Amino acid sequence: MAMRFDGRVAIVTGAGGGLGREHALALAKRGAWVVVNDLGGARDGSGGSATAAEAVVAEIEAAGGEAMANAASVTDPVAVRAMVDAVMAKWGRVDILVNNAGVLRDKTFAKMELEDFRFVVDVHLMGAVNCTKAVWDIMREANYGRIVMTTSSSGLYGNFGQSNYGAAKMALVGLMQTLSIEGAKNDIRVNCLAPTAHTRMTEDLGARLPLELLGPEMVTPGLLHLVSEDAPSRCILTAGAGGFERAYVTLTQGAWIAGEDAPEQVAARFGEISDRTGEVVPDMGAAQGFIELTKAQAAHKA
Ligand code: NAI
Repeated sequence: MAMRFDGRVAIVTGAGGGLGREHALALAKRGAWVVVNDLGGARDGSGGSATAAEAVVAEIEAAGGEAMANAASVTDPVAVRAMVDAVMAKWGRVDILVNNAGVLRDKTFAKMELEDFRFVVDVHLMGAVNCTKAVWDIMREANYGRIVMTTSSSGLYGNFGQSNYGAAKMALVGLMQTLSIEGAKNDIRVNCLAPTAHTRMTEDLGARLPLELLGPEMVTPGLLHLVSEDAPSRCILTAGAGGFERAYVTLTQGAWIAGEDAPEQVAARFGEISDRTGEVVPDMGAAQGFIELTKAQAAHKA
């Protein structure tokens, strides 16, 4: 059956270009009313203009869809709240939030100014927090919500020159993990999407990549699943060039070690601690403690 979003209202941040634009176009094409948010600034977050969002709204309307433009910076909680108020006044609901807005200020950590670190964390992490906070009670009251945080392989696995960006992107995974737990009883499903696509953000890598395979539209099917009626929750979906994978934060079976020579034992048995045979994905943070206590209790009984 075709995946449809009729009657659903979706906010997509940073939707004036790149991946966000594709997400917005696809949601509108499949029936959603879409808020196209974009500050319209440069890749490093400087400047701003409403025209980027307005152009995408015009595209959606030309194709017969419904959309509204919004130029709030996701870093401004007051402007974000005003955006959500305007959406509620016009359509009376918010079902889907795609936190996609992002900027880059790459430098090695040695050369990184704290201001550039803070700015990137502010846009990616606090931007998603501001937008999510503004819709959270609406979704709780409606007993329905679908939220995606756009993370990155740079956060999941690291990337040279991206300590600020990687830290912000991995912080979004932590945010998703807890919000998916807190949102479950109100059917608010929260997931992360880690895309790979040729956009303004990755244009510097251009010469090294087969760009024709890396269209942002190849990522959007994954996003649509994460915000659909049948969405999973608490997933990290990676997507690019038509490839879809899942990333997990896992825990190994490890070892139980105590006593005077515990530091030496941790060193000596580090291979055993690191062995991935039988690793698990804990369903919440406390599970780590339970697993460790179980080992300790078993050791004390033996
Ligand atoms: P892009 O630069 O084309 O899109 C980002 C959009 O966010 C821009 O239109 C920009 O104006 C907007 N934006 C920036 N700051 C904003 C703010 N404060 N408020 C509202 N809008 C703001 O880049 P792309 O590639 O489409 O990136 C989309 C998301 O995907 C970003 O979160 C990025 O970090 C993430 N991502 C992209 C990857 C890729 O391969 N292109 C890889 C991993 C993650």
